Amino acid sequence: MVKNFSFVKRLLWYLRNPNHWNHFFFAIKRRFRWLIVGREKFDKSIEAEKWCKEMKIADDEIIRNTTNSDSVALPSDLVNYIEEKKKDLNSADVVLGDEGNLHLMYNLIVLSKANRIIETGVAFGWSSLVILSAIKNSNGRLVSTDKPVPDKETNRYIGIAVPNDLRENWVLYKEADISGLEKAFKLHPSYDLCHYDSDKSYEGRMRTYPKLWKSLKPGGIFISDDIGDNMAFKEFAEDIGKKPYVSHSITSAGDRYVGILVKDSI
Ligand SMILES: C[S@@+](CC[C@H](N)C(=O)[O-])C[C@H]1O[C@@H](n2cnc3c(N)ncnc32)[C@H](O)[C@@H]1O
Repeated sequence: MVKNFSFVKRLLWYLRNPNHWNHFFFAIKRRFRWLIVGREKFDKSIEAEKWCKEMKIADDEIIRNTTNSDSVALPSDLVNYIEEKKKDLNSADVVLGDEGNLHLMYNLIVLSKANRIIETGVAFGWSSLVILSAIKNSNGRLVSTDKPVPDKETNRYIGIAVPNDLRENWVLYKEADISGLEKAFKLHPSYDLCHYDSDKSYEGRMRTYPKLWKSLKPGGIFISDDIGDNMAFKEFAEDIGKKPYVSHSITSAGDRYVGILVKDSI
């Protein structure tokens, strides 16, 4: 059983790791802002969820509108592998973040022939696994970032769902977006598709969405998970003047809204 890491231990870990200070200062500044102004002022989660409810359309329609193709099912060997691996990890008793909309993600990658992909937020690695499976035959590349967990025992679970035979085409930076993405953009300056599933705060999204959008090639696809948490996705879509697509599904944690934007082709 992985125990909670205490605040003091976490603080000491950050003191010993100066390359993570940027993220640490960002998080502290944000906490103070929430304390003074109130987080709801930034998030407006009730408004965000209402907007998502109004905008949602079926995944099949999103897939058709964005790729001009009909959806395909996830390969049965992948579905079976996920089921088995989830059983294993349940007994490990470690809690990391929930998975994204794997079916939607798989379809958008395969049908748009996306080959170079960037994602933020890995946790056990269900999304990484699906992305790597989708690009396996085209010898694509995935670059992922996930904030390091100061506790070594938990840290080793990041990306654990990805089997060795898929790791060859994967670069995982166990760093917060603030520094991990810099490395990812140095490695490959442009991508066909991005999946945002890391820092769910309004501020975190507003800081990272523009960087990911900029890195997308013409015709590239932008996917963001949990957009019902706050107004960041809606505002970002308005800022760049793009039509937002909103997917809805129900998970064990409740309603899940995923947002999709497509960059103009040349
Ligand atoms: C919802 S989980 C990701 C789930 C994963 N995409 C999947 O579908 O299986 C969110 C992850 O984002 C990471 N995270 C949170 N804030 C972050 C940040 N600022 N930079 C990088 N990763 C972050 C957390 O450590 C957590 O593992």
